[in-house]
Amino acid sequence: MNVLVTGGAGYIGSHLVRVLASAGHKVLVYDNLGKGHAAALEGFDLVRGDINDTAALADALRRCQAQAVIHLAAFIEAGESVEHPHKYFHNNTLGGLSVLEAMRQAGVGKMVFSSTAAVYGQPVNLPIQETDPTEPINPYGASKLCVEFMLRSYARAYGMGFVSLRYFNVAGASPDAAVGEDHHPETHLVPLVLQVALGARPAIKIFGDDYDTPDGTCIRDYIHVMDLATAHVLALEAIQPGQAKAFNLGNGAGFSVRQIIQTCRQVTGHAIPAETAPRRAGDPPRLVASCEKAQAELGWKARYGDIQTIIAHAWEWHRRHPRGWGDA
Ligand SMILES: NC(=O)c1ccc[n+]([C@@H]2O[C@H](COP(=O)([O-])OP(=O)(O)OC[C@H]3O[C@@H](n4cnc5c(N)ncnc54)[C@H](O)[C@@H]3O)[C@@H](O)[C@H]2O)c1
Repeated sequence: MNVLVTGGAGYIGSHLVRVLASAGHKVLVYDNLGKGHAAALEGFDLVRGDINDTAALADALRRCQAQAVIHLAAFIEAGESVEHPHKYFHNNTLGGLSVLEAMRQAGVGKMVFSSTAAVYGQPVNLPIQETDPTEPINPYGASKLCVEFMLRSYARAYGMGFVSLRYFNVAGASPDAAVGEDHHPETHLVPLVLQVALGARPAIKIFGDDYDTPDGTCIRDYIHVMDLATAHVLALEAIQPGQAKAFNLGNGAGFSVRQIIQTCRQVTGHAIPAETAPRRAGDPPRLVASCEKAQAELGWKARYGDIQTIIAHAWEWHRRHPRGWGDA
């Protein structure tokens, strides 16, 4: 298939384009490089453009004769979205609408959409299932849930087909360390802990150690970025006209903040000092996905399920690229 990937120069996108190409797809990346890295796309075609420029995106879709879109481009920081909701609804929600309109203009009928566990808000059941209530507690989650609503409407009205993938915590790097995670600012636990191991930060902060969990720290579900990428290839094949489906993507297993730090110490051989800080508002004690639907309907299965491997791959990337892509 000819696939246009919005946001393909980012962390997940730079892994996804490699997995798509090795599955035989022809890939064009569309990214404004606001957060992404051109260096992460060596060997891939990039159109530098903004998803809010509907005409330019429609033009790119026509020129590459796209048959499907994988829409990753978005702002991703839940904390920032609380301070600047306009920024998030504009880029993520209106940006999503612009991508849909560009697809209609160019006659492209299929999309895989990057959604998020943040659409659920505080979970009512564990593990979280796709049928559980979606009540986001920050504008980031809401901005993504709005797009999921639009997808359902566009499927019904225009016969387009969609799969939304609700990612939990994505971590790791390509096993050959060719690409890895480099966000600015970095807010994700695994790279932050590994930056302490590299000496780039003095200590890792643990936000709350008095939660109702075995070691008192929050539990999250970590999925290897390559397993996540593979799910997109399967999702492309599963799209059906007139339907908009949603799938959780996680490991199905939770790890506490302390377990992550301890595993990073084992993998890196560094002491990694940690200090406890007050809880952050809105952090649920546990977020763990049920991935049974993705397994049953997409035929997806995690290859790199163990946290040791996820962290070992991330460490290899950080060790070899201590300044990330070096273009911050
Ligand atoms: N990283 C995670 O753990 C995680 C978890 C859940 C969901 N997600 C979702 O996955 C997607 C990718 O996340 P990531 O970690 O790779 O983020 P990232 O910031 O590394 O990548 C996002 C890319 O989108 C591009 N972009 C943003 N706005 C754009 C615009 N208006 N026009 C064109 N390009 C634009 C950026 O330049 C960047 O290359 C996002 O939609 C995010 O919400 C990520």
